Amino acid sequence: MSFNHEISSDQGPLLYRDLADWYPLLTPVGDYAEEAAFYRHLFETHCRRSPRTLLDLGSGGGHNAAYLKATLACTLVDLAPAMLSLSSRLNPDCEHVQGDMRSIRLGRVFDCVLLHDAVSYMASRTDLARAIATAFEHTAPGGVAMFQPDFVSETFAPGTETGGSDGNGRALRYLEWRWVPDSRTDMYVTDMAYLLRDVNGAVEVIHDRHLMGLFPRAVWLELISTAGFDSLVVPFEHSSYSDTGHEVFLGRRPVADGRA
Ligand SMILES: C[S@@+](CC[C@H](N)C(=O)[O-])C[C@H]1O[C@@H](n2cnc3c(N)ncnc32)[C@H](O)[C@@H]1O
Repeated sequence: MSFNHEISSDQGPLLYRDLADWYPLLTPVGDYAEEAAFYRHLFETHCRRSPRTLLDLGSGGGHNAAYLKATLACTLVDLAPAMLSLSSRLNPDCEHVQGDMRSIRLGRVFDCVLLHDAVSYMASRTDLARAIATAFEHTAPGGVAMFQPDFVSETFAPGTETGGSDGNGRALRYLEWRWVPDSRTDMYVTDMAYLLRDVNGAVEVIHDRHLMGLFPRAVWLELISTAGFDSLVVPFEHSSYSDTGHEVFLGRRPVADGRA
């Protein structure tokens, strides 16, 4: 089978536009406490300056920021206005900026830069390199950037998952189906089916396609190094993901690298 891009949406997933208000039922903020604590620990361990500021590129619902903001002044960047508005309600104390992680330039640097699962939307090597360059431009000397793709080539497996939750009289359940088109090695498709139940009990079924990048570990490390960082990979430690081989990439900006 060859993969036809025309069947995907040019405007990106519905989840981040028309369905943004359902996002907290798909991935509740309470589920992020443990991983946010892990990221905080990584930042504190690898940042060679006192970590006080954080830039989150592709901040989505702001679910990591909801925890990280306890010790870090957070600036949250996302492409989707509907997600920024969702996050603004959860994190009114954080700065929110609409922008593309491949091109935004805020003209200032941060102690810590986070590209969480949103970096998985970099569906070509060129886009990934641009997002990593954005991270470098915003990382202070001695600071650290963290990248967490959902998968690298070595850890990806096609498959399905289900989940969802209830809230305020509404409920969402989903089926997630990950697969690689025969014609591609550098991307995979996540087809999502959402069942949305409203307060009256009516249920709507919606299909939503997400196009994600898939790159070998060596490509990640090469692109992070090429951008100017010292690169390393560390295992993702989480009680729910103990045997999946998930990994986190770090880019440590040298204290003195001769770059502006
Ligand atoms: C799964 S959500 C991120 C959730 C986030 N980690 C959190 O803590 O809530 C993915 C987000 O990536 C954003 N995104 C996708 N491509 C982007 C790009 N090129 N630049 C900025 N944000 C992007 C989407 O709009 C979406 O809000």
